[in-house]
Amino acid sequence: MNAETRLSREQHQKLAKIVYQETGIVLSEKKYSLLVARLSKRMRIKGISSVSGYMDLISADPDEFNEFIDAVTTNHTFFFRENKHCEYLIRTLEKTKPLKIWSAASSSGEEAYSIAVQLMAAGFSFSIFASDVSDSMLDLGRRAVYPGDRVKQVPPSMLRTYFQKGQDQWKDYVRIKPEVRQRVSFAKFNLLSDTPQDTFDIIFCRNVMIYFDAQTRQRVVDRLCRALKPGGYFFVGLSESLNGLVHSLTTILPSGYQKKE
Ligand SMILES: C[S@@+](CC[C@H](N)C(=O)[O-])C[C@H]1O[C@@H](n2cnc3c(N)ncnc32)[C@H](O)[C@@H]1O
Repeated sequence: MNAETRLSREQHQKLAKIVYQETGIVLSEKKYSLLVARLSKRMRIKGISSVSGYMDLISADPDEFNEFIDAVTTNHTFFFRENKHCEYLIRTLEKTKPLKIWSAASSSGEEAYSIAVQLMAAGFSFSIFASDVSDSMLDLGRRAVYPGDRVKQVPPSMLRTYFQKGQDQWKDYVRIKPEVRQRVSFAKFNLLSDTPQDTFDIIFCRNVMIYFDAQTRQRVVDRLCRALKPGGYFFVGLSESLNGLVHSLTTILPSGYQKKE
């Protein structure tokens, strides 16, 4: 945290309101240090020393507004995270029909590629739409280059089959092979304001609703359920659930739901 950056209560409330309206993310007073750290980083990059100067900039410059929103999102993810959901699908689904899958808060793509390599290894036919509100995360997903320590949970056989090892200055990195990359398409999609143009057999919306309040969670679940085909599967993060929300899905496993046929 930058010791020189101080936010007045009013500035905190104003910035939190902007973030809430744009993404649904709640930046309560408990998140003061997080907001200051991420704001300070953007202020340093732009060479701006006052918070009010930076606030003027984001209201005048849509590109910097995007950068600010990007900076306040939490993008932590890794390969094979909460893999029980994918294992369940592989055990349960028939391989006869092609699957349309949506990774609806994909961050830098690890979730989508983890699902892709397992479905490929199991012989499924599928496509994955990976979306996020953060442009920089979508760029990382499209590039598909990851530091070696991010793939520690990938089984060695899948690492050999679906990942290329980097060389020379890239020796500590891996890249997803083209045959996997071509199954995954990335696009910007704001869960709060964009309307899905397609319907899906499976939707993963994991580890994002923890940042939303109940009202936003309900709104997002309503939209996503409309984009789910009858009989389709819906997964949230293992520390999340749809408890307290109105929906017509059936619980099939922890944080896993199915829409009625
Ligand atoms: C912690 S990551 C989760 C990544 C992955 N799903 C996982 O479980 O590992 C949360 C992601 O949600 C994205 N996000 C936050 N608000 C969003 C919104 N309104 N619409 C779309 N994505 C959003 C963030 O940019 C971030 O990349």
